[in-house]
Amino acid sequence: MFLSACVGVASTIVLFVSPTFAVDKTVDAQLVAKLKTAATMIDRLNLLSDDQLLYNFSANPMYSWKPGSVCNANAATWPLLSTFGVTVAQLNLGPCAMLAPHLHRANNLVVAVTGSTHTYMVQENGARLIEQILTPGMMTMFPLGSVHSMYNMGCESNQLYSFLDSGDPGTLNLAQSFFMMPQEIGMQVMPFINLSNGNWNATAQLIPAVGTGSQDGSDACRTKCGLNSDD
Ligand SMILES: *[C@@H]1O[C@H](CO)[C@@H](O)[C@H](O)[C@H]1NC(C)=O
Ligand SMILES: *[C@@H]1O[C@H](CO)[C@@H](O)[C@H](O)[C@H]1NC(C)=O
Ligand SMILES: *[C@@H]1O[C@H](CO)[C@@H](O)[C@H](O)[C@H]1NC(C)=O
Repeated sequence: MFLSACVGVASTIVLFVSPTFAVDKTVDAQLVAKLKTAATMIDRLNLLSDDQLLYNFSANPMYSWKPGSVCNANAATWPLLSTFGVTVAQLNLGPCAMLAPHLHRANNLVVAVTGSTHTYMVQENGARLIEQILTPGMMTMFPLGSVHSMYNMGCESNQLYSFLDSGDPGTLNLAQSFFMMPQEIGMQVMPFINLSNGNWNATAQLIPAVGTGSQDGSDACRTKCGLNSDD
């Protein structure tokens, strides 16, 4: 089930998309250094123009609706947040699009603006799976270190905002990190995996790329929305 969810015809096409999209690039490390050593807020404000106090999510390099995106305003993309201890992410999910199971080193609140989004969260071993459906104006939480995932239940694009209590919360996708472990470890955990040509690394390459942060959702949803017609 793990693999069938991750490996699909579409995923092989995105295999060679440049991995430079996978993580946020630090736009101005020098400014971050100056902001961090500034003594006071006034000193920090004097380092920033009025324009630098506005963040435009639509101009984030990840911004995309096919299949979707996670546009982070964080220490990397908006230098002033390096001293705030906060990240705000705009989640743009095309029809059926999903965020693969992942975690952060920060507490996370997610608020739906449009659409219906099904969320899943597991806090730790022994904790129950928590599922929620987020509709406009509804918020849920993913505590620090929890594994969570979500998908757009609808055939229209939907949008949410995500708030994290760190300027550098990171995102760690489970599937990619699992396959970075040695084959001997992975196959003991999941002996039923049908490796591509018997090759662990080649199988790992079939996991949909992190890309702009979102990936295509389930076949069932895509069929319902008429998105599988050209498969
Ligand atoms: C935000 O960025 C987008 C994409 O670059 C641009 O089209 C839009 O004009 C910007 N909005 C403002 C208010 O600057
Ligand atoms: C494993 O994958 C191969 C193709 O890569 C396929 O022919 C075979 O039927 C699969 N085996 C199982 C048990 O799913
Ligand atoms: C798989 O990748 C790991 C890590 O990059 C490497 O050490 C190992 O030699 C690779 N194995 C094969 C069979 O290519």
